[in-house]
Amino acid sequence: MGGNELKYIHQAFDENWIAPLGPNVDNFEADLCRFTGAKHAAALSSGTAAIHLTLILLGIGPGDEVICPTFTFSATINPILYQGAIPVFVDSGTSTWNICVEETRRAIEDRIAKGKAPKALMIVHLYGQSAKMWQLMALAETYNLPVIEDAAEALGATYEGKALGTFGKFGILSFNGNKIITTSGGGALLSNDQELIEKARFLATQARDPAPHYQHSQVGYNYRMSNVVAGIGRGQMEVLPERVRRRREIFAFYQQAFSDIPAISFSPELSDTE
Ligand SMILES: Cc1ncc(COP(=O)(O)O)c(C=O)c1O
Repeated sequence: MGGNELKYIHQAFDENWIAPLGPNVDNFEADLCRFTGAKHAAALSSGTAAIHLTLILLGIGPGDEVICPTFTFSATINPILYQGAIPVFVDSGTSTWNICVEETRRAIEDRIAKGKAPKALMIVHLYGQSAKMWQLMALAETYNLPVIEDAAEALGATYEGKALGTFGKFGILSFNGNKIITTSGGGALLSNDQELIEKARFLATQARDPAPHYQHSQVGYNYRMSNVVAGIGRGQMEVLPERVRRRREIFAFYQQAFSDIPAISFSPELSDTE
């Protein structure tokens, strides 16, 4: 922990905001927008929940196909299955270990040729390493595919100065215990589209209609982040740059320590020109 997390948690208790909404949630969302440059953010109960909401918002349902990488954590794929949709797996490129641009093109063209145009492209930035974003975004544009960026492991990483998770229609973040910053458990959805983020907040709070009584016209989810947990997030945002610096230091340490063993090589950070 960085130090100020308890201060924000105490604020939540002092003001009796012990709920899945409140000032810590609002401020944590604002912190995420400031840091990443995303126009809007919704703080959620997990990164998995954030991925699930992106698929719902894109109207992806049974039998729809989503292009996604083979090399990722299972939580990237599970929400595709929640929706009854079909993951179309694409292998990694050697320089980034993330989804290969040429194989992605092949997969999209193959599915189109077979009459099954994919509904979305899921890109993962594993271990904080950027996928080849400009090439993948160009591909997505050519085939009119919405891009979901799973940046669960990439908060604090940029590509050409732009935060990962802000290239696509949606970006998702995770604050699970093993991430660069943590709220113990939690996630966020990023987008420049205000309407989509508002719809995500609505779906994440059980899709309760604006009526004086309890009324629900569609299926909802209990996916919002607690105001107590968001207090941890606010404290963690204050130390995020330091955590990124330390991660690079550890990388450099291992690189140096193994430098005289020819069998071991390291995947370098993707250069801005690739
Ligand atoms: C690549 C990737 N995607 C998605 C997730 C899911 O995030 P969460 O654990 O917050 O649901 C994680 C981490 O757990 C992850 O590493």
